[in-house]
Amino acid sequence: MTNLILLGPPGAGKGTQAKRLVDERGMVQLSTGDMLREAMASGSELGQRVKDVMARGELVSDDIVIGLIAEKLEAAAGNGFIFDGFPRTLAQADALADALEAAGTGLDAVIEMRVDDAALARRVTGRYTCGNCGAVYHDETRPTKVAGVCDACGSTDLRRRPDDTEEALRNRLMEYYKKTSPLVGYYYAKGQLSVVDGLAEIDAVSDAIAAVLDKD
Ligand code: AP5
Repeated sequence: MTNLILLGPPGAGKGTQAKRLVDERGMVQLSTGDMLREAMASGSELGQRVKDVMARGELVSDDIVIGLIAEKLEAAAGNGFIFDGFPRTLAQADALADALEAAGTGLDAVIEMRVDDAALARRVTGRYTCGNCGAVYHDETRPTKVAGVCDACGSTDLRRRPDDTEEALRNRLMEYYKKTSPLVGYYYAKGQLSVVDGLAEIDAVSDAIAAVLDKD
């Protein structure tokens, strides 16, 4: 069993690679972004509370996301967890370490997906996802084979995120550099950090991640 954090700025490719690891290795993807979007779609009180914060591209409070992850850690079982978009602050990182320890497990790898900021704007503004199965596409680099139809499940419910605008992306990047990027040093100092080139082709990034996971 492997527990892995995918760390990187908005658009680095965390979700794309997490979905491949789910398909190929039977791991469980825990994406706090997806959980929060599900809460919004369901119209729950939590969804109402986080809607405006997320649309602006700011971070939701630590207690909310730590609570979401704790629930999933108790409920989900599989061949290890992929933490996608969590932790994003030092408080979240400490809470995750405590939760994993309490569950009798720990972290096996933290992979930083390094991408330059200019590429992120192109990736984020060209992204669309399947509202049914969550498959991730891009106008230029990974379009659906048939326009308007999901390759994976055939759904025509293809969506763009409200925070995938240039303005919201500027806030998301600022949040990343102020609050999340210190985690790179934190995990490096713990001896857990590996770095992959997130600018490479999607398959090459998957290969680099597999090399980290299979290195022992
Ligand atoms: P979240 O949903 O986690 O968004 P994010 O971290 O900003 O990451 P993205 O989903 O935008 O990008 P990604 O790295 O998954 O890239 P993807 O694979 O889609 O969070 C959204 C919001 O929720 C936050 O702003 C915050 O408000 C809140 N939130 C979530 N977690 C939180 C937390 N822990 N604490 C507090 N608040 C939290 O790829 C992007 C595009 O690029 C796609 O179109 C894809 O096809 C393409 N692509 C991917 N890889 C490649 C490649 N190698 N080459 C070319 N194109 C590629």
